[in-house]
Amino acid sequence: MLEIKDAVAVITGAGSGIGEAFAKYWVQRGGRVVIADVIPENLSRVEKEIVKLGGEVQSTLCDVTKEEDNRRLAVLAIETFGAINLVLPCAGIIKDGLLLSTDRETGKVNQKMSLGQFQSVLDINLIGVFLTIRECAEQMINSGSKGLLCLMSSTGSLGTAGQINYSSSKAAISVIPKVITAEFFRRNLTGRIRCVAVAPGYVATSMVKGMDGKALNKILDDVPIGRLIEPEEIASLVCELFRNEAIAGEVFFIHGGLRLGSRG
Ligand SMILES: NC(=O)c1ccc[n+]([C@@H]2O[C@H](COP(=O)([O-])OP(=O)(O)OC[C@H]3O[C@@H](n4cnc5c(N)ncnc54)[C@H](O)[C@@H]3O)[C@@H](O)[C@H]2O)c1
Repeated sequence: MLEIKDAVAVITGAGSGIGEAFAKYWVQRGGRVVIADVIPENLSRVEKEIVKLGGEVQSTLCDVTKEEDNRRLAVLAIETFGAINLVLPCAGIIKDGLLLSTDRETGKVNQKMSLGQFQSVLDINLIGVFLTIRECAEQMINSGSKGLLCLMSSTGSLGTAGQINYSSSKAAISVIPKVITAEFFRRNLTGRIRCVAVAPGYVATSMVKGMDGKALNKILDDVPIGRLIEPEEIASLVCELFRNEAIAGEVFFIHGGLRLGSRG
């Protein structure tokens, strides 16, 4: 079992939501954090709050879509703390819409999802994660660090109407732990660096709380536990996946019993 005490977590998208909650959860258990986000005000607020909690923290602006920003982030973690033990890429966005919308009267297509709307989600949720884990894993290997790459997938990975961009990005994320585990196995690295993904259902962060009350109530009708998942419940799962070294290459759903798959 790995110890959280003194372990170093690199967290992108740490300026709010799951990333923020995880950073606080981790330092409260003795871990150290390198936090990154694109919104400076949020990043410095979270940094101050972590210091108040008595946590050791380094923060840096990082746009995960930029190769150089990810490289700087990974190098900064090593320069500051000498190791990277957990990588949690939480930077992510949604831009929901239908592939094609039709006019109610004519039945003809009156709107299409733009290339920009599709691509911007893939750029952050998939390419960004690829760059973050590539740069961090390089530093982990070269510094002799031991730990976990824990990706954020989603129940949307199974296909949610209105989210062709988001669902595609999360389906791709779900396959990455298998690929990395197989590749690292061949290089005798899997005993040192494992890779998994967590796939949450509806979590109480701004991504979900921003929805109008009616849409939110409709969602909650489908959740057997009858409420949103708390970000700390995701954090608790990630900590267990980190500690338990028998776990590798798998996707772990955490959704309060949500019925999975699109019902149209
Ligand atoms: N909230 C949910 O219900 C839910 C469910 C399943 C999966 N997830 C996933 O969990 C992750 C975190 O989601 P959240 O709910 O905490 O969202 P959130 O919106 O609260 O936080 C996302 C953070 O990412 C940052 N970000 C956006 N673009 C960035 C970029 N280019 N570079 C760096 N940072 C950037 C934002 O500034 C924000 O601080 C996402 O990958 C999301 O898809 C969320």
